[in-house]
Amino acid sequence: MKKTILTGIRPTGNLHLGHYFGACQNWVRLQDDYDFFLEIADVQALTDHFDQPEFVKKNVYELAIDLLSVGIDPKKTHLFIQSMVPEIAELTVFYSNLVTMARLYRNPTVKTEIAQKKALFGNDGESVTYGFVGYPVSQAADITALQGEVVPVGEDQLPLIEQCREIVRKFNHIYGVTLKEPEPILSPTPRIKGLDGNEKMGKSLGNAIYLKDDDATIAKKIMGAVTDPQKIKKDDPANPDVCMVYYYHKLLKNENLETVCQECKAGARGCVSCKKELIQKMEEFLAPYREKRAYYEAHTEEVTKVLMDSSQAARNKAQQTLQNVKQKMYIDYEKVS
Ligand code: TRP
Repeated sequence: MKKTILTGIRPTGNLHLGHYFGACQNWVRLQDDYDFFLEIADVQALTDHFDQPEFVKKNVYELAIDLLSVGIDPKKTHLFIQSMVPEIAELTVFYSNLVTMARLYRNPTVKTEIAQKKALFGNDGESVTYGFVGYPVSQAADITALQGEVVPVGEDQLPLIEQCREIVRKFNHIYGVTLKEPEPILSPTPRIKGLDGNEKMGKSLGNAIYLKDDDATIAKKIMGAVTDPQKIKKDDPANPDVCMVYYYHKLLKNENLETVCQECKAGARGCVSCKKELIQKMEEFLAPYREKRAYYEAHTEEVTKVLMDSSQAARNKAQQTLQNVKQKMYIDYEKVS
């Protein structure tokens, strides 16, 4: 019996290289060895974007196409939409009694996000909704509904998994053993740097290279990359270790990496030609993704079918969980006890 994996992603934009190297590449590997449920967390995206529902819907499809194009295989993975499994919402309500407000406010992930909101919208707490503070509870429902045993996440998500484990323990303690305590696993490549030298690539940082970017956009982004500031002229020797172009040559596994490094150090390689070579490598790297994306864009009905079928499969499993939960909570009124 394969173990069950569950993870999720919020549909708030297209995939960029940070997602790819930090998470998706690992998911593609994991789908061979596990029963894999990959959730497009539209309900969770609405906790932040409730006033932009069209944006969330558009991104559900965009993300589905991105994920299928990086190699998520619908024959191996259930790529489902959170809101299409309403059992998750029902479980969220039941779990909400098992979590104190104080504990939610202490959750480091929530704490950081609230601080960001307050900085952005003012410090009166008016931007912090009940739904938002409660999203760890809903995430616990995601995981347990599908009986996830292993949850691949980034480090920032660990407090959410810990909170899920607490909910499971409390549920099992009060109502009798019903739910599984999930284990988190961290991605082998946690995060990648931006071309601007920032430690992280991200949409909000404005330094993301999207898998969907066209040639002209990619070229422009790479031409603007940060190189060794000590290097002024084309034939000045430079230090590749402080150069983002070299970092990306490494990331994309350029087979001439040794030459790139030697030439850079010797002043035998100008930054412009080094960037042009990287543009070439990036296009080679993106070619299989682009081919698949073109296919799915031309066959959107196939994407819809994957989402509908997978969501139904996820729902079938979540219904079993919900039935067990309700029975343990004495909310099974068809039986007179
Ligand atoms: N909170 C996760 C993120 O923002 C996404 C997510 C939703 C998730 N449901 C999940 C992750 C369940 C792991 C398990 O990245």
